Amino acid sequence: LPPALKKYKHTMDISSILQGGYHHPLARTWQGKRQLTKSMLMYPIFITDEPDASVEIASLPGQRRWGINKLEGFLAPLVRKGLQSVILFGVPTKCEKDMRGSPADDASGPVILAIKKIRQLFPTLYIACDVCLCEYTDHGHCGLLNADGSIDNAPSVERIAQVAVSYAKAGAHCVAPSDMMDGRIKAIKNGLIEAKLGNKCTLMSYSAKFASCMYGPFRDAAGSAPSFGDRKCYQLPPAAKGLARRAIQRDTAEGADIIMVKPALPYLDVIADAAELAPDHPLACYQVSGEFAMIHAGAKAGVYDLRTMAFEAVDSMIRAGATLILTYFTPDFLEWLD
Ligand code: PBG
Ligand code: ZN
Repeated sequence: LPPALKKYKHTMDISSILQGGYHHPLARTWQGKRQLTKSMLMYPIFITDEPDASVEIASLPGQRRWGINKLEGFLAPLVRKGLQSVILFGVPTKCEKDMRGSPADDASGPVILAIKKIRQLFPTLYIACDVCLCEYTDHGHCGLLNADGSIDNAPSVERIAQVAVSYAKAGAHCVAPSDMMDGRIKAIKNGLIEAKLGNKCTLMSYSAKFASCMYGPFRDAAGSAPSFGDRKCYQLPPAAKGLARRAIQRDTAEGADIIMVKPALPYLDVIADAAELAPDHPLACYQVSGEFAMIHAGAKAGVYDLRTMAFEAVDSMIRAGATLILTYFTPDFLEWLD
């Protein structure tokens, strides 16, 4: 051997050789602790109060606001491809919004009608409902306000629990409060128990929800931007690792059945923390509207291939510890996983 290679030969030992373990596509899949499967996907969908609506959302490629009469045509092909769960967001356009978000649990409002309709159309589909007031308050905040515009926590929690119980009574398999008021998990759990639904409805907490700039397309889609101020007094500061850990621990203690981290990709360390702090709970993460739009924009700009990037992003969430992924890519993944 030439001297250069001789040296190389002596510095290589058995433990240096890794590539043999992943030379084959199948062997590459074995290198992950878990792999994305269709049952890990929860699809966020927007339901509006115009029964025949099918309105494109410009900022969310391929996503639409759906009217109740369009749900069958929209969901049937997805259920056929293996869709197993959805999370509903109400987008009221015709209702009278007020300071307490009264339309949120209107029995003839889009969410409650959609729960009933979807249960009847697709009995095996798992229906989660986002619970929040911002789509229904005239001020666009997620809770009730004091006269000075600050959050009035106690009545907010009471109202949010009331809305959650209404969705559960209508047949939601899961309620998922995204408001970030203090103490709402305990209040909702107690409300479900009092309504004898404690054993029939999952409580998924948006536990570590950050005050992110990545909710913009969603607020467009849902018409839920605050009319003044921002959400920084209830959503977590992006750098707040400690607060996120405390919120995760609090919500498991208050009775959450599933813990969620949101957004997902910029908060992988928080997902990993949640996996360590709540190892006995399913762990969800929400790949939010801005993440979805960003991946699309990058692909459109030629930065990467859409599908490859979508898998890389979601694989990183699973690697961090997520067992459930809320993503607008769900229809694509159902296709890609075949
Ligand atoms: C409402 C809510 C938001 C999202 C889910 N529920 C927006 C917000 O908090 O302003 C964001 C979802 C997304 O961006 O895809 N509380
Ligand atoms: Zn809200």
